[in-house]
Amino acid sequence: MLLVTGASGHLGSLIHAGLVDRGLSPAAGTRTPDRFGRLGRAMDFDDPAGLDLSGVRTLVLVSAGYGEDDLVIARHDRVITAAEQHGVEHVVYTSLTAAGDHLAFALAHRWTERRLRDSRLSWTILRNGLYAELFGQLAAPGAGAIRAPFGTGALAAVARQDLADVAVQVAAQPHAHRNRTYELAGPVALTATDLADALGVPYQPVSLAEQRAALAGADLLPFQPAMLMSIFSATAAGFLGATGSDLADLLPRPPRAALPIAMAAAS
Ligand SMILES: NC(=O)c1ccc[n+]([C@@H]2O[C@H](COP(=O)([O-])OP(=O)(O)OC[C@H]3O[C@@H](n4cnc5c(N)ncnc54)[C@H](OP(=O)(O)O)[C@@H]3O)[C@@H](O)[C@H]2O)c1
Repeated sequence: MLLVTGASGHLGSLIHAGLVDRGLSPAAGTRTPDRFGRLGRAMDFDDPAGLDLSGVRTLVLVSAGYGEDDLVIARHDRVITAAEQHGVEHVVYTSLTAAGDHLAFALAHRWTERRLRDSRLSWTILRNGLYAELFGQLAAPGAGAIRAPFGTGALAAVARQDLADVAVQVAAQPHAHRNRTYELAGPVALTATDLADALGVPYQPVSLAEQRAALAGADLLPFQPAMLMSIFSATAAGFLGATGSDLADLLPRPPRAALPIAMAAAS
């Protein structure tokens, strides 16, 4: 049996739906299982008693990354430990592109990758690039202009649906992808200027200090400002623009264009 964790989230729901479309009847591991009917399975990584993976051969572990490193690491450790105890054979983990090593949330991903490599499980690591949807949200215009600290940096943003499609492809044939790590950045690097031009608004770059001050007044959890600032900082410094990727090789069709997706998310 296949099981997808985080099945109610944006990425997990797309992966689950893709596997359903293939007729694979994947279980949906989630904190809200009722919405999946007979496929739903209650799963909260913060509740070790509830991590029942019996009967699961292939586990798609969607990172549960919203939290401090110690919390996220503990979550991922619990679910991998449960996979070992319940006889899971293969784990497909949604990680972060190598270019994201400067991002504040990279550490928990790299910890999880190491935990999998050191386990007796077979695994596939999907090093996801940053979503085009996220880029659009972070660069959304306010008061008629994009005001963000991306500088002239570019981001190899990728459609979330493409990442889900790759996960489906891999989860459907895990043995073909045993102990492989795939880089999944987008094929085109977008700048804030590209997005501004497409939206017909000016791009007015701001400094990191101005952005940090703006975030201080926003309704965010304590870990979030550092996470967001690292995305701006790493993009502006040119670390997230590399487009070399396994994405096109793993998709059955060309990757989706990121710009229209970012435009929709920014509107
Ligand atoms: N590449 C990127 O640009 C990017 C951007 C944002 C986040 N991410 C990472 O990718 C993951 C999926 O992204 P997304 O867009 O689907 O995010 P999302 O829609 O916000 O979903 C959050 C996910 O975290 C899961 N989760 C939260 N707390 C959990 C817990 N205690 N136990 C088990 N699962 C828990 C949720 O599962 P249920 O609600 O189903 O229980 C859900 O799948 C995120 O969790 C994050 O680690 C990547």
